[in-house]
Order: sequence, then C-alpha cells, then structure tokens
Amino acid sequence: MATVFITGSNRGIGLELVRALQGRGDRVIATCRSASDALRATGATVVEGIDVSVDACIPRLREALGDGAPDIVICNAGVLSAETLGDIDWDAMRRQFEVNTLGPLRVAEAVLPSMQRGGKFVIITSRMGSVEDNTSGGMYGYRVSKAGVNMVGRSLAHDVADRGIAVQLLHPGYVRTDMTKGNGLIDPDESAATLIARIDELTEEHSGTFRHQNGEMLPW
Ligand SMILES: NC(=O)c1ccc[n+]([C@@H]2O[C@H](COP(=O)([O-])OP(=O)(O)OC[C@H]3O[C@@H](n4cnc5c(N)ncnc54)[C@H](OP(=O)(O)O)[C@@H]3O)[C@@H](O)[C@H]2O)c1
Repeated sequence: MATVFITGSNRGIGLELVRALQGRGDRVIATCRSASDALRATGATVVEGIDVSVDACIPRLREALGDGAPDIVICNAGVLSAETLGDIDWDAMRRQFEVNTLGPLRVAEAVLPSMQRGGKFVIITSRMGSVEDNTSGGMYGYRVSKAGVNMVGRSLAHDVADRGIAVQLLHPGYVRTDMTKGNGLIDPDESAATLIARIDELTEEHSGTFRHQNGEMLPW
C-alpha cells in the first residue's frame, strides 16, 4: 500500500486518479481548493484549501503531510485558457504560469524533503508543452506554462537523483473534462488508469523523461 499525494483532486483526471488509487487500496491524500461530493465519496483523506498558485500552499502542504512521507506525489492541478495572437489576455498568461509551472515547483518544495528513496514525483503536463510537437501554434499561455513545467521536472530529476527519487512528466491524453469542454478521445477514468500504469512502471532509470499515457516517449 502506497501513500499517494495528489493536487487538483476534486474533479476531472485528478478525481479519477483518487478513485482508482483508493480503489486498489492505496492511502490517498487528496488535496484541492474545495472538495466536491464526488471526492468525499471516494473515502480518501481530503485536504481542502490547497491553492497551488500561491506560495502559502507550501506550509499548508507540509502541514497536510504531517510526519508522513508520501511514496508517490502527483501534481495534477492545472488551468487552460486559449489566447490568440492580437488578443492576448496577459492576466490569463500569468495565471497559467502560476498554476501550471510554479504550482508543481511549490509542491516539490513542500514534499520532496520528506520523500524517501524509491519515491516517485509525477507532474501531469501536456504534449502542448512540447516545442517539437507544436505544429499548430496559438495557446500561448498553456503551451509556455507546460513547456516551463517540463523544464521544472527535468531539473528536479537531476536534483533528487542522488536520493533515489524518480521524477516523470506525463501527458494524460486528450481527455473529456471541463478543461476541454467535454471534448477528447478518452474519458478521465481511462486516462487515470493508464497514468497509474505508467507511474507503476517508473524507475530511476527513466527519471526526467516526458511520456504519453499510452507509453510513447514524447519529444521536448
Ligand atoms: N483534459 C485534457 O485533455 C488534458 C490534456 C493534457 C493535459 N491535461 C492536464 O491534466 C491536468 C488535469 O486536467 P483536467 O483535464 O482534469 O482539468 P479540469 O477538469 O479542468 O480540472 C482541473 C483541476 O485543477 C484544479 N485547479 C485549478 N487551479 C488550481 C489551483 N490554483 N490550485 C489547486 N487546484 C487547481 C481544479 O480545481 P478547482 O475545481 O478548484 O478549479 C481541478 O481539480 C491539468 O494539469 C491539465 O493541464 C489535461
């Protein structure tokens, strides 16, 4: 039984990760800004008031951990707004950077000191953050913020390598959630199941890689 710590767990992919992990017997600490009934029904330990876009989440996350050491941390919280050239919403750009890029780094600051050898630190990123895979343009804030978090993850992988902690950047697929307004190729439960399979497979050897939930390695 692993202790798993998840951000943004009240809906979408995060909620399905909680359901699946809790369902297989892991001990899940599900953090969110505000809990949903669906999250409460999972039986996970719910910690509300965790907004990853503010520095104050760091002491709150440490408090939520208490003396415990998570085996797996999943930074799932994210936001998307679609900027188009000529009509950039600068506040939305900054917001995506705060949540998508700095959010996982804040979580790392809070939880990595207590993680043990064999621990796994996972960031749910997006292939939209791949420079090489960008064949359609636009989406400035989301693309930049996810490219940024890819770099955060790669640096973390180097920084915790000597402690035997593996870091991975995972793309969850194109998933039917609020973020995509219900569009997508797969449902959140399928995404969660395959993300968990990738996390189970993760070893130190593959730390610092960027991978699709279907198993493909993605280009930076
Ligand atoms: N859906 C896709 O096709 C897709 C593709 C690639 C990557 N992703 C990534 O997958 C992750 C989950 O996305 P999703 O599709 O499940 O989106 P979603 O349904 O919109 O859920 C987003 C989650 O992030 C939380 N969140 C947003 N801002 C937050 C903040 N400041 N602090 C803490 N939590 C916050 C939300 O909580 P609130 O209810 O409090 O807002 C919600 O739990 C994101 O990182 C996203 O970028 C999704």
